[in-house]
Amino acid sequence: MPSRKVSKAIIPAAGLGTRFLPATKASPKEMLPLVDKPLIQYAVEEAVSAGLQDIIVITGRGKRAIEDHFDVSFELEENLKESGKEKLLKEIRRISELANFCYVRQRHARGLGDAILCAQHLIGNEPFAVILGDEVIDAPVPAIGQLIEWYENLGTPVLGVYEVEPEEVSSYGIISAEPAGPRLFKVTDLIEKPSLQEAPSRLAVIGRYILPPGIFSVLEKTQPGKNQEIQLTDALRTLARSSPMHALLVNGNRHDAGDKLGFLKATVEFGLKNPELGDRFARYLKGIRF
Ligand code: G1P
Repeated sequence: MPSRKVSKAIIPAAGLGTRFLPATKASPKEMLPLVDKPLIQYAVEEAVSAGLQDIIVITGRGKRAIEDHFDVSFELEENLKESGKEKLLKEIRRISELANFCYVRQRHARGLGDAILCAQHLIGNEPFAVILGDEVIDAPVPAIGQLIEWYENLGTPVLGVYEVEPEEVSSYGIISAEPAGPRLFKVTDLIEKPSLQEAPSRLAVIGRYILPPGIFSVLEKTQPGKNQEIQLTDALRTLARSSPMHALLVNGNRHDAGDKLGFLKATVEFGLKNPELGDRFARYLKGIRF
């Protein structure tokens, strides 16, 4: 029986970021900053605070800034040292020491399922986490850690879900589920970006998954689905038909920063929580006239 210890996280970052064009024409959407940290750093920090030390980032053309961000920056460090900016220096060093990073390139943008498949050789026969950096979840216990806890208990795949508004269901993978405990559901089916009429619930998959290595052989056989892409949701659907799968209503404040309005809302909330800016920013917001 494969172990239930989860130590690796896959962070897909190969998407074209079309929703943020032209900002993402020449720089990765994963590097868009929420206040002062790029989106992908929130995902990495979530993984690390849940005890995941091996981070596999799926990249593609035009994504080198991501690798540079998590690498040592010798000149910058020297410069900060010489100018006595100790606090910044510490923060810059901390970023390059966050985790063990490994980068795999997805050569063609064939969808999330295909991106996950690119990491198969690095995962081996272990369960693993998937974190989509578009979704930023501000939570007392890291969202992916909440899923790991249940995975260690249940031994089935666990998906993070959130209840969304009816007009939002067509933007997400939606589950069909039966209650299985407090905040827990047994997943009976999944559908990628259904219309409101087709949607079996309002429980949307929010980019947090604990998956067994068995998902790879299913992904290999998964045909292109929605938008002609190999969808992780379709592979999960196949898996849910043959073995149990659970979903957890994640506890936390979740932002879909992959969407312009969601990104703006996240910026405002993280700005308000920022110890250096929060008070001044709140005063500014209160004074705005509409
Ligand atoms: C992806 C998944 C979808 C999930 C969503 C979460 O869609 O395919 O099932 O609900 O992330 O944000 P994307 O937003 O990449 O189109």
